[in-house]
Amino acid sequence: MHLNGKRILILGGKTGLLGQALTLAFKRTGAKPIPLSSKDCDILAPDSVEKLLDRHDPDIMINAAAYTLVDLAEDNEEMAFALNATAPPLLATLAAKRQIPFVHYSTDFVFRGDRQSPYSVYDEPTPFSVYGISKADGERGLLKLGYGKTLIIRISWLFGPGKINFVEKILSLCDSRDTLSVVNDQTGSPSYAPDIAKNTLHLLENDATGIYHLANSGQTTWYGLAAKAVELAGKDCTVEPVPSSAYPTKAERPAYSVLDLSRFTKTTGAPPRHWEEALREYVHKDLKLGTR
Ligand SMILES: NC(=O)c1ccc[n+]([C@@H]2O[C@H](COP(=O)([O-])OP(=O)(O)OC[C@H]3O[C@@H](n4cnc5c(N)ncnc54)[C@H](OP(=O)(O)O)[C@@H]3O)[C@@H](O)[C@H]2O)c1
Repeated sequence: MHLNGKRILILGGKTGLLGQALTLAFKRTGAKPIPLSSKDCDILAPDSVEKLLDRHDPDIMINAAAYTLVDLAEDNEEMAFALNATAPPLLATLAAKRQIPFVHYSTDFVFRGDRQSPYSVYDEPTPFSVYGISKADGERGLLKLGYGKTLIIRISWLFGPGKINFVEKILSLCDSRDTLSVVNDQTGSPSYAPDIAKNTLHLLENDATGIYHLANSGQTTWYGLAAKAVELAGKDCTVEPVPSSAYPTKAERPAYSVLDLSRFTKTTGAPPRHWEEALREYVHKDLKLGTR
């Protein structure tokens, strides 16, 4: 599909970390993004989404809206399930009525993480946190609906401009502390939001449907990601590796959730770039740190 001139409705496109990157990426290709936030329409009220569909008559609908607060989800089960499990198939039904492609994002947290080899798109979800279970339910709802123009993209460990994220938090903590302790027993693949956005466009250009995994290439731990960011930013701060037990969180995280990107590479012809290269761009160009 050619994206030039196409109208793209992006739920979460105005205020979400990924949504903002999608909005920019579509603009750059000559498409016409229609970015939305919860103030423009509520994905829990399909009528409000339908009104916007009638008004804008988009060629593609993208759902980058979700309940993403992993720890708070443990106490806000109802809201997490409403946004992550109930809403996606309702949105896809609206896309199906218009026969337009529907793109939805899911997460590496649908996997338990009790192994040491990358998760393939053919692996069954094995979630255990409320967030992970709600996102896996959303995927299941979409697969059950069976609308053929649905693209489900699982991503992991998102960072990028436009909204506070792990990397930015680490770098700003460096301004008030000499030492930071970061967990070193959870391994995953960092994803630079602008790269996820650009690669989503590649999938659409290739008319991809079904489940895809997308992240930057390579893998690391949260400690590895933090240490590299601090080094690139040239901050005078020591990063220490610690076990997860040093930082108990309400929701348990998978110990290993690296995503196998081979389906993406096969479809588009090229693998995503390495996370360190993407992190360098984020720290130097977006945050304007460490270049002097
Ligand atoms: N962040 C990560 O590390 C990560 C990792 C793996 C997967 N993912 C997945 O990637 C996708 C994007 O995540 P993100 O981190 O970019 O999300 P985010 O920054 O938390 O943004 C969520 C977006 O959803 C919108 N939203 C929330 N409730 C809504 C409602 N009732 N109606 C309409 N819009 C609503 C928010 O709008 P308001 O600002 O108006 O509330 C916001 O634009 C999600 O599916 C997430 O599960 C994220």
